[in-house]
Amino acid sequence: MNKEEIIKTYTNGEITVVWDAAKCRHTGICLAGLPRVFNLKQKPWIDMSAADTASIEKQVSLCPSGALGTQDNDTYYTGQSDGAAEVVLTPGGPLTLYGKVLIKNLRGKTINEVDNPSFCRCGKSAQPPFCDGGHARHT
Ligand code: FES
Repeated sequence: MNKEEIIKTYTNGEITVVWDAAKCRHTGICLAGLPRVFNLKQKPWIDMSAADTASIEKQVSLCPSGALGTQDNDTYYTGQSDGAAEVVLTPGGPLTLYGKVLIKNLRGKTINEVDNPSFCRCGKSAQPPFCDGGHARHT
């Protein structure tokens, strides 16, 4: 099984967190935001008993790539930021914008429309201008 095929679930009985490795950009936002739950030094790396359901749902909603989502009553959805525009700088990683972003060329023509894009700041992405997790593979 390669990385693209890995989808794992973690539950506390109330909700299930779904992690899709193929979507993950390794921004580290979950690790920094709720380190008791999301911790690469523990196995499994998501400990659903380390925080209440609301805190976990809130952190999952901040995942810019949609790699993290929650599942409840057979419905899968990924979180989205609401309200004001938000930018997160990941140390050694990307710049992530929350919300729908229109990417335009120099003439002002929209060439792409992206939800929660993470832009590469390290120069190691194979999919510029977007982060593809290359910063984590080349550390
Ligand atoms: S910041 Fe992630 S690949 Fe460059």
